[in-house]
Amino acid sequence: MTATYQRIEVRPMSGALGAEICGVDLARDLDGETIAEIRRAFLEHLVICLRDQVLSVEQHKAFGRRFGALDVHPYVKPLDGHPEIIRIIKEPTDKQAFGGTNWHSDVPFFEAPSMGTILYAREVPPRDGDTAFANLYLGYEALSDGMKTMVNGMKAINTASMVYGVGSKMESENRTMGYLRRQEAEAEVAHPVVRTHPETRRKSLYLDRSFTSRFQDMTREESLPLIDFLCRHATRLEFTFRLNWEKNTVAFFDNRCTQHLAINDYNGFRRVVDRVTMAGDRPA
Ligand code: SIN
Repeated sequence: MTATYQRIEVRPMSGALGAEICGVDLARDLDGETIAEIRRAFLEHLVICLRDQVLSVEQHKAFGRRFGALDVHPYVKPLDGHPEIIRIIKEPTDKQAFGGTNWHSDVPFFEAPSMGTILYAREVPPRDGDTAFANLYLGYEALSDGMKTMVNGMKAINTASMVYGVGSKMESENRTMGYLRRQEAEAEVAHPVVRTHPETRRKSLYLDRSFTSRFQDMTREESLPLIDFLCRHATRLEFTFRLNWEKNTVAFFDNRCTQHLAINDYNGFRRVVDRVTMAGDRPA
């Protein structure tokens, strides 16, 4: 898909995915055509970033609502007074970064996981603290025909239990953020390992190391070698790009066909990023 744009300027950031959008001030009440072009750029490039945006929490939420209803995360304590906002904070004394342990997509343990995530950098370290993104369409397309045939018929069993379950280690992962470890996190949902994007109709891999515990009708022990292979394959360097944050950068990514990893290489510095996610469809 190649789109032309009248309202915005779109500058691709890597061969695999990612584009910078220029000429837009998200603090303004954007007209429908500009929003439609932003949506086209998001579908074409999977991750779009906008620099130098000065946004209040309300303006961040309002921009998200132009693309769907905002989700509320069941296991991460939200920003006071804003249930739809997760404030991702790493203090200089924290050793772990939220979202920094494994490549993952957001909330794949929901029956209908989020369609997209909008991150907004409020404070950044003097260097480092990038977020890496992987294009899961490319991961699927680069598989052999035999592997494609096999994984097309498979379902991944996803659960929040390994990250947010009662016995999980999450509580100690980042001392600043609040996690709600709950019994309900043990619930499982089956999603296709290969999903078809509801808007682009392209196929992508859809499983990850944080939330996929096994394949349907298989044990975890049987499943792990293939989960490992597919997750390593999906995040091969040529399918990825790294977003270097600046204060006031917005990144909007398609959670249906990407994974991401918050790179934890800035111990001793503070980083604060606000996150909203927008409701999506049941993967098919
Ligand atoms: C996340 O996984 O939601 C965190 C992303 C980031 O902090 O860069």
